[in-house]
Amino acid sequence: MKGLVLSGGKGTRLRPITHTAAKQLIPVANKPILFFVLDNLASAGVTDIGIVISPETGDAIRDAVGDGSSFGIDVTWIVQDSPRGLAHAVMVSRDFLGDSPFVMYLGDNLIETRIGSFVEDFERSTTSAMVLLKSVDNPSAFGIATVDEAGRLTRLIEKPSNPQSDLALVGVYFFKSAIHEAISVIEPSSRGELEITDAIQRLLDSGADVESRIITDWWLDTGKKDDLLAANTTVLETWCKGIVRGKVDASSRLVGRVDVGEGSVIRGSQVEGPVVIGRNCTVTDSHIGPFTSIGDGATIIDSHVRHAVLLESCTLSGVEQLTDSLIGRNATITRNGSDGAMRVSIGDDSYIET
Ligand code: DAU
Repeated sequence: MKGLVLSGGKGTRLRPITHTAAKQLIPVANKPILFFVLDNLASAGVTDIGIVISPETGDAIRDAVGDGSSFGIDVTWIVQDSPRGLAHAVMVSRDFLGDSPFVMYLGDNLIETRIGSFVEDFERSTTSAMVLLKSVDNPSAFGIATVDEAGRLTRLIEKPSNPQSDLALVGVYFFKSAIHEAISVIEPSSRGELEITDAIQRLLDSGADVESRIITDWWLDTGKKDDLLAANTTVLETWCKGIVRGKVDASSRLVGRVDVGEGSVIRGSQVEGPVVIGRNCTVTDSHIGPFTSIGDGATIIDSHVRHAVLLESCTLSGVEQLTDSLIGRNATITRNGSDGAMRVSIGDDSYIET
């Protein structure tokens, strides 16, 4: 079974961060979302993987993943010239996929479930496709499925305004080669994309058998800032180990699970886990956590940060309370002077709430 990871697209919902970075590379607990995806595939024995990238962010993704050997996978890079839909991404991957069965995994989706047993089920079955579903509170934001008692799909609709079910398509799909024929006959949707949801509906209409599995553990679609912070919190709770590789001085206190990366130094600070601090960071006279991830090379002085994600090389100095926040690379926040004025130089689409 081959793997197809979709890492193209535009990522507008995470602006401003995605002006300069691919959304699949945004880190959760200091690990890019895409790496969780590749680990999950590799652990299921899916090692022949095509990764769909866009011309804009593809190079950054190639640099991050390298030749795939650190994940134990072989990577084939597939450039999709513009984000014309999930089914279009499959279409441009046809040379790589051939007639092989494959698992398609959206590169910005984080699921707790290991997919190994689904891969085995699908390899043994004669079904044309299988999708993973999860009950959600906001069905209009997803592809939605209705299912009969035997778990067979009866109908699929992309982002319906009047959802008939709360079962959303999680971004993991299993296909046999019949999907290519279905894709070749669908038309672009109202949002101008070739929808994989429509292609699967086409399979159903042609009488093909499509199975589903409902997952109950967490799934995080990391499209927006608050989703990303929720993902960070959940991943820290589940996977933060409390490994200290850097230095923590005698006047500092680590409470609960705190990861401190190599070359980092914590002085005169309290860190309340779960928290991940990357490599080569300096934390001085500060209070960090809980539920906070700090990227490599950060400098934090005399500040209080909780429930936040800081990307690489940020500087915080004299920040009394920073909470519920996502801070991009190389950003600096300092308190300076006593006139109470705010002085900013912020990027496009940024958002400040004080
Ligand atoms: O997250 C699950 C949802 O993902 C499903 O419930 C929906 O049925 C499915 O259509 C999809 O909806 P989104 O609107 O969230 O998809 P998005 O545009 O965010 O793209 C998902 C991933 O696929 C993301 O990593 C970008 C990549 N992508 C997207 C498009 C449109 C591509 O590689 N090429 C594309 O053309």
